[in-house]
Amino acid sequence: MDPQTRFAVGEKYAYSDGLGNYLQSEALPGALPAVINSPQKPPFGLRTERISGSAFVAPRHHSYHTFLYRVHSSMDHSEFMPLNITGGYGSISKADLANVSPNTHFWNAFPVPESADWVSGQQLLGRTGDPHKKEGASIWIFAVTDSMPEHQAFASLDGEMLIVPQSGALDIQTELGRLLVRQNEIAVIPRGVRHRVTLVDGAPCRGYICELHQGHFRLPELGVIGTVGLAGVRDFQVPKACIDAAARERIESCSAARIKVEWDMVARLSGKYWHCTQHQTPFDVAAWHGQCYPYKYDLSRFAALGAVRFDHHDPSLFTVLTARNHGAEPSTAVLDFALIPPRWAAMKDTLWIPYYHRNTMQEFFGAIVQAQDPQHPLNGKTAAFRPFGGGCMNAMSTHGAAEADLEREMARDTEQAAKVAGEGVAVFVFELDRPVVWSDWALDHVELNHWSKLKL
Ligand SMILES: [Fe+2]
Repeated sequence: MDPQTRFAVGEKYAYSDGLGNYLQSEALPGALPAVINSPQKPPFGLRTERISGSAFVAPRHHSYHTFLYRVHSSMDHSEFMPLNITGGYGSISKADLANVSPNTHFWNAFPVPESADWVSGQQLLGRTGDPHKKEGASIWIFAVTDSMPEHQAFASLDGEMLIVPQSGALDIQTELGRLLVRQNEIAVIPRGVRHRVTLVDGAPCRGYICELHQGHFRLPELGVIGTVGLAGVRDFQVPKACIDAAARERIESCSAARIKVEWDMVARLSGKYWHCTQHQTPFDVAAWHGQCYPYKYDLSRFAALGAVRFDHHDPSLFTVLTARNHGAEPSTAVLDFALIPPRWAAMKDTLWIPYYHRNTMQEFFGAIVQAQDPQHPLNGKTAAFRPFGGGCMNAMSTHGAAEADLEREMARDTEQAAKVAGEGVAVFVFELDRPVVWSDWALDHVELNHWSKLKL
């Protein structure tokens, strides 16, 4: 239970630290204008461009804006045209609630396509709310075997993407800089930020995405916990400005000539795909400042808290990130991203396994193996454990221990010393406030609809 993951894939990039900080970064010294956000003559003849992630009149602590200083404006592109992607969103009818169920659902191991990149390798599982109305969230899985084409970029216009790799690593080049996101790390990419995803040494990567249609992920309030614990502010890493070599050369040579390379720009809006072409790299941002940026986080750094005498505390103690519900019901979330990591169990006269419960939130969960060795038994090398699966306790469905596990636990010596629970595996949960409308694909691949038949 090291406080940092010993990653199999070494770090490639440098980062700034701290989630929520107002940051600034420049790929070229002097590229960031001083004081004036929109100077008449920006350094190096750069173009000023702004990404707004919140209303201008939002309170300071809700404000998300970033100024970009780039070689070319991203305004210059062809008309967006529909793009046909296999999978995707179209399989859910907007008004169709037939795919909502009070059953629990389990997928032991999601099918993995033979060949797919970051765009074609995303498969919708289900959604709450509606991206068009900026309501709720969508759950996707991804299985990527190929890097994206050299001159293609993608952006979700439907919301922030919380990316949870379950195996492998993603090398993500964004407009604001590069991130390496590996097994047992997570990353968040803000709505609309263009990015290109490649693989590390060609190794495939698969995992989960939660696309948040409303608001932003943020750290939970700590209440009586005080000021430290759970996910630490300084442990979130933000990329530094980085520009493509051609854009850098264009700046350094003081050339006014446009960089003539055709890029395919793919966007997802209201669950449908579009694309256009542009003749400049989207990765030409020489400097930026703001608080709307991508970031990543090593899940081993999560400082879990728990009971040290008896009984269970509420699972809200496992919240890493949350998205508040700004509706009528106070103190609720549209979505909580929770992590149940390996941890000490030491409670006396208490069941160490969860009591049976029904939850007003829907609990979609998956397993993240912390061991980095691909040959480790938990990384799919045994038939008994196949980590690329998932499950969801749908609306108010009762769940808890299998009877045999309960009997074993009740027979345990009450004087047993503390033990590590969940050694080697972290379970993550997307806790969603509304029942999930599952995609036809997800329901076609459900392997079990009843918790009590789950072989744990
Ligand atoms: Fe639960």
